[in-house]
Amino acid sequence: MDNNANIDWGNLSFGYMKTDYNVRCTYKDGKWGEIEVTDSENLNIHMAATCLHYGQEIFEGMKAFRGKDGKIRIFRMDENAKRIQRSANGIMMAPIPEDLFCEMVKKVVKANERFIPPYGSGASLYIRPLEIGMTAQVGVKPATEYLFLIFVTPVGPYFKEGFKPTKVAIYREYDRAAPCGTGRWKVGGNYAASLSAGERAKAEGYSAVLYLDPKEKKYIDECGPANFFAIKNGVYITPKSGSILPSVTNMSLQQIAQDLGIAVECRPIPLEELAECQEAAECGTAAVATPISRIDDVEEGKSYIFSENNEPGEITTKLYNRLRAIQLGDEPDTHNWVTIVE
Ligand code: PLP
Ligand code: COI
Repeated sequence: MDNNANIDWGNLSFGYMKTDYNVRCTYKDGKWGEIEVTDSENLNIHMAATCLHYGQEIFEGMKAFRGKDGKIRIFRMDENAKRIQRSANGIMMAPIPEDLFCEMVKKVVKANERFIPPYGSGASLYIRPLEIGMTAQVGVKPATEYLFLIFVTPVGPYFKEGFKPTKVAIYREYDRAAPCGTGRWKVGGNYAASLSAGERAKAEGYSAVLYLDPKEKKYIDECGPANFFAIKNGVYITPKSGSILPSVTNMSLQQIAQDLGIAVECRPIPLEELAECQEAAECGTAAVATPISRIDDVEEGKSYIFSENNEPGEITTKLYNRLRAIQLGDEPDTHNWVTIVE
């Protein structure tokens, strides 16, 4: 393959594409080993490994961008390093030291430099770290050996519409997480629990499922693969809940909102309050900030409409543009969110 990887950058979907290398590190005898760089896409796993039976799997998602100045920028990887430590502690896996995490992220990005989409293509390099329990075990208990691996793949927009309003569904018969369960961590099982509702949503013409809090079904939690925010009379409101994933994108948008003079409220949001909101969106690494045109509460036969003309709202657009500009290096990185890979 040539140096530019021969990819139609403008038409990438959010999917897997083979790149040159992935990086791996094993935890054994109570310590992390050496970083290994490999071109193999396969793993050799014992059939009784805890990741296969008892769901000892955690992952992360972040992106690298090529700027107009040609530099490679990784967005807030220290936050992902902290979150994967919380996930590891949450399901009794070996936490990855932050320095090791960041060193491996930089290494895998640099090793696959030719797969970083060019500035202006709208695409980015998605970075997927994952950790799995490797020890053969039949009783329900944590592994003692772990594999931490990072691969990358160039991606386009998560939702095929790109930065265009999408429809979202509430189905009251599904939950993705339990009230005191694993929703606050990025564990594979949460996504298994979301597949059934997610596929139904797609079949019924929705981009995603909006989950309500699993205890009372009264408050908004989050979307399948993203957090939720709304704009109510000029204020950025976003759910506070123990069963949602603390999103790095949401955290960043809250800071950007404040920088732009927009007040932020992070608190429980009763579903009915949506009737008083002018804009709504889902936010995450993959989703960035995807505007929501309407939310259908399917069983209740009720809808909340945010965009009659199918155009993104004014504040959502401002937040999206500022976030992208910081990620690409078009605007100053005043909060030190970006790591430049030399
Ligand atoms: N919520 C869930 C369930 C997710 O899978 C994601 C994606 O990572 C997010 C929220 C957004 O988090 P972040 O902005 O850190 O990507
Ligand atoms: C992300 O936004 O990074 C995610 O992990 C969402 C989804 C692809 C699982």
